[in-house]
Amino acid sequence: MRIPDLLEYAIEKETGKYNIKDLKEAALNLSKRYMDNKRTGESFLRTGLDTISYSVIRMPATYSAIRTCLEKIKELKDFNINSLLDIGSGTGAAEWAVTEMFDVNDIVCLEREKAMRDLSKKYFSYNEELKNVKFIEADILNEELKESKDLCILSYMINELSEKNRLKVIEKVLLCTNKVLLVVEPGTPEGFENVKRIREYAFEKGYEIIAPCTGFNGRCDIPENDWCASSVRVQRTKIHKYLKDAEIGFEDEKFSYIAISTSKQKLNIDKNLKRILRHPKIQNGRIEVKTCMQGEIKEELITKKNKEEFKLLKKKNVGDLF
Ligand SMILES: C[S@@+](CC[C@H](N)C(=O)[O-])C[C@H]1O[C@@H](n2cnc3c(N)ncnc32)[C@H](O)[C@@H]1O
Repeated sequence: MRIPDLLEYAIEKETGKYNIKDLKEAALNLSKRYMDNKRTGESFLRTGLDTISYSVIRMPATYSAIRTCLEKIKELKDFNINSLLDIGSGTGAAEWAVTEMFDVNDIVCLEREKAMRDLSKKYFSYNEELKNVKFIEADILNEELKESKDLCILSYMINELSEKNRLKVIEKVLLCTNKVLLVVEPGTPEGFENVKRIREYAFEKGYEIIAPCTGFNGRCDIPENDWCASSVRVQRTKIHKYLKDAEIGFEDEKFSYIAISTSKQKLNIDKNLKRILRHPKIQNGRIEVKTCMQGEIKEELITKKNKEEFKLLKKKNVGDLF
């Protein structure tokens, strides 16, 4: 997946205002801080250099993960989404993804850090559709959300909160979601743990889980020491390759997510759909695939004898329906 041409152009223009060596150093420091993975609730994206290097090395991946989740939701139910609230909106990845998929005319970004808001506004100024995005300059922990929106997104944000605040934020956001809440987290054990807790909380409160779980009824056979993640192949831009000293032109972004319906009416999504849990292994005319349906995990073997399924499965990726 590639970021939109217009966003690539905006990033190129804005990064052109910085010294490339400074950008590279900032990107390196940022990667190190992400690896250290200390979650204190404090942001490490505060300066212009930090945020612009974030937008080069992370925004294409977060954009692609959000876009993939939206595609998965749309595949199951074609929601009419007119308004969006993005919490911890950062450099605005979700706004680019959502406006490509839905006809949204009311967008609000809630972001605590000024440097992040400033950069997202700069990028939005390149795109007619994003010029009227409104901002709430606040910490979600202290903010009372007054308006409801059709779609609410928390992308790569819950893991930045301290543990005790995570479900408090989910509770608050669910109450102002008209149709769908989408939470995206890194595809790590920690990210999946967050998603699992959110799923349990939402299910207990009577909300319907849209994706990735199919026909979720409280059962989940993922063992304690394992986790469930989807993946998307992200095309690297030239500057991304340079800042990361990368030779390969793409990277695989792994993410865990949960899409929750807040509609009072049941969605009537087919409960008997299977989701692929691991990338299918193709060998000597056989495909081994791990699938999940209603929380039950199965290892399946598809041979060439089963022509249609075999052909279909060859094109599938982890996270796809099958
Ligand atoms: C890793 S970035 C993700 C940005 C964007 N959602 C994306 O997917 O690219 C997390 C963002 O959440 C913001 N954030 C973290 N905690 C917050 C809070 N309590 N209130 C508002 N924003 C917060 C940070 O400032 C940062 O911009």
